[in-house]
Amino acid sequence: MAPSHWIFSTWIFILCGCTAGLYKQPSSEEGITRNCTSNPPYLPPTVVNTSQQLSALRQQMRTFNISAYIIPATDAHMSEYIAEFDKRREWMTGFTGSAGTAVVTMTKAALWTDSRYWAEAERQMDCNWELQKTPWISSIVEWLLNEIPGERIGFDPFLFSINDWNSYSEPIKSSGGILSSITTNLVDTVWSTRPPLPSNQIYQLREEFTGSTWQEKVSSIRSQMSQHSQKPTAVLLSALDESAWLFNLRGKDIPYNPLFYSYTLLSHDFIRLFVNVTRITPEVQKYLNTNCTGPLCVQLIDYNQVQENVRKYTEGNVKIWIGMEYTTYGLYEVIPKEKLLTDNYSPVMKTKAVKNQKEQQLMRKSHIRDAVAMTQFLVWLEKTVPKGTVDEMSAANYVDSLRGKQEHSAGPSFATISASGLNAALAHYSPSNKTKRKLTVDEMYLIDSGGQYLDGTTDITRTLHWGKPTAFEKEAYTRVLMGNLDLTMLIFPSESSGRPLETLARKPLWEAGLNYGHGTGHGIGNFLSIHEWPVGFQSNNIPMTKGMFTSIEPGYYHDGGFGIRIEDVALVVEAQTKYMFGGQPYLTFEAITLVPYDQKLIDTTIMSATQINYLNNYYQTIRKIIGPELKNQKLEEEYTWLMRNTESFSQGTLAAVSLGTMTFTLLANVFLQRVLV
Ligand SMILES: *[C@@H]1O[C@H](CO)[C@@H](O)[C@H](O)[C@H]1NC(C)=O
Ligand SMILES: *[C@@H]1O[C@H](CO)[C@@H](O)[C@H](O)[C@H]1NC(C)=O
Ligand SMILES: *[C@@H]1O[C@H](CO)[C@@H](O)[C@H](O)[C@H]1NC(C)=O
Ligand SMILES: *[C@@H]1O[C@H](CO)[C@@H](O)[C@H](O)[C@H]1NC(C)=O
Ligand SMILES: *[C@@H]1O[C@H](CO)[C@@H](O)[C@H](O)[C@H]1NC(C)=O
Ligand SMILES: *[C@@H]1O[C@H](CO)[C@@H](O)[C@H](O)[C@H]1NC(C)=O
Repeated sequence: MAPSHWIFSTWIFILCGCTAGLYKQPSSEEGITRNCTSNPPYLPPTVVNTSQQLSALRQQMRTFNISAYIIPATDAHMSEYIAEFDKRREWMTGFTGSAGTAVVTMTKAALWTDSRYWAEAERQMDCNWELQKTPWISSIVEWLLNEIPGERIGFDPFLFSINDWNSYSEPIKSSGGILSSITTNLVDTVWSTRPPLPSNQIYQLREEFTGSTWQEKVSSIRSQMSQHSQKPTAVLLSALDESAWLFNLRGKDIPYNPLFYSYTLLSHDFIRLFVNVTRITPEVQKYLNTNCTGPLCVQLIDYNQVQENVRKYTEGNVKIWIGMEYTTYGLYEVIPKEKLLTDNYSPVMKTKAVKNQKEQQLMRKSHIRDAVAMTQFLVWLEKTVPKGTVDEMSAANYVDSLRGKQEHSAGPSFATISASGLNAALAHYSPSNKTKRKLTVDEMYLIDSGGQYLDGTTDITRTLHWGKPTAFEKEAYTRVLMGNLDLTMLIFPSESSGRPLETLARKPLWEAGLNYGHGTGHGIGNFLSIHEWPVGFQSNNIPMTKGMFTSIEPGYYHDGGFGIRIEDVALVVEAQTKYMFGGQPYLTFEAITLVPYDQKLIDTTIMSATQINYLNNYYQTIRKIIGPELKNQKLEEEYTWLMRNTESFSQGTLAAVSLGTMTFTLLANVFLQRVLV
């Protein structure tokens, strides 16, 4: 899945800068979007009347003596996906987009969001709300200082990252305003129809699906604490995947990621897990050794006690190690600065990023079954699209259902992006009943989807054409593919930062004056988050080391025409090099996503012999690994399709390919006979 804004805040600007022009408003907006300048204002039926919630909130604001209240669209763990329970901004504004901050004063209300969501905001918000199209904190601050200079601005410290807090605090303070941390969330106090807190089961991941025991993980983190020059006495974990990983526990509190609300305070002497204690079954209690008090016994403490408990802990002679990216100001503010050890990422984040042998095997296995589901899907599309019976929604539902039938499936790993023709030019498009296009043989189609499995998380994008692609479509596709292959086969020194490496993925596009406006890849978890921090190709990701998984996903988006993305998950492995300058083994990537690309869209005449050779080897690997699994699952038709679509390319005999279907059919038949005999 294309890396989204959460990975780091400047990302959104990169995306916006590039794709702002891609977001075409529907030709006729009348009747679809609000018009607050007409008299009376025009409000489409999709708009939510927010008068009541605003007046209730303003009453609370009076009680707390503040002139403005800031409502971000996140939860207390800076999660990428949030539960209904945490959709405060959505309830307040009516606007459902995943990104956007609301601010309410006594007389005004405003929402800041990026270009992906402007049209949606105009359809969903009533005229109580102004839409602000500059979604950065400096712009919000400027607006606030203009509206209510020198007055008190309230916020919930658990919904602010430390960095966000800094960005608000400094300019507000320097212009005489007051930023006031209020631990009671004002929206929650007036949200009468608030959905309940998730209370699904929290369960132990079976040992066969874990890389090491929680006790081993705890020891490893403790030894990193001991080795650190600043001698931290404890690590505080705030991101949901940190505690889930550490204890090998999973839940279902938020969509797509199998996580549960929790914090962990891990010291040399104790382990405290802050969670809704009644959700921990006696079985899990036993597993966590909750019935004792030693350093390998887990103390279960109520989730809501975390701030007070951490504050108490800081009374001692302690030093708490935190990762800045996920810790909220709510915890940061109770720790005296001299008792803090701050890092961009906690030691758990860094350790989790490097998968051990068993975790690598688990990931590979999940990707094999995922490739089976994808192959079934591609065969189905090839047969069904020409009949004109498939649209973006039904295709998305079908691929999700195929994954659901594979062993250890636990649902999709994100909302499937299924985009036909010009819809695919929007890098973050996901279909709805309103926007869905039919899949046809005349348009390119982009499918970006993934699964959660008990043994791994998957993420793959393929772009397809079932008719006659134009020369430009073919060239653009091939260049995206060349970039994907060049980066995947790159050999680089150990500990290289991803940022310079990703140039390789863009080079074939740049050479033709093309580019894409998003990052080139992101880390991915073992039955954890689809976007796993801090691995990737951005400047604030950690250096590449052996055992990390990253997606590799260059693309090209042609405004009003089509979109291309080719995405595989790859493992960082040691490369075989003749020499070893520097003394450390050199590294390269190994694609573990094993699904062929669209032959129709590949123009090998612009590819190098090295690229073609690599591609042919990759196809051999697909045959070797996915072929037997298809047979195993008795998918003969899919097996035949796979063989046909992994035929070797050679630079000289391209004529055969362009001869078209007849040649293919012929080859396939010959091959089939060979296989079936
Ligand atoms: C809104 O209504 C006003 C007054 O009727 C009109 O001039 C304007 O064009 C409308 N704006 C849109 C976006 O339809
Ligand atoms: C919104 O609801 C309030 C009552 O809560 C009502 O007074 C007002 O007229 C409604 N506004 C619109 C535009 O329907
Ligand atoms: C309310 O805040 C203002 C500053 O905005 C301050 O002067 C005043 O004393 C506060 N009142 C209470 C009751 O806290
Ligand atoms: C804790 O979990 C229990 C059991 O699922 C649930 O009934 C209860 O409402 C939860 N409590 C809180 C404060 O969320
Ligand atoms: C914890 O220990 C007590 C006393 O030894 C025992 O009665 C209880 O059943 C234990 N609970 C669990 C969950 O093991
Ligand atoms: C989309 O339409 C289908 C068929 O009419 C319907 O079953 C489904 O619930 C709709 N989905 C949404 C999200 O509205």
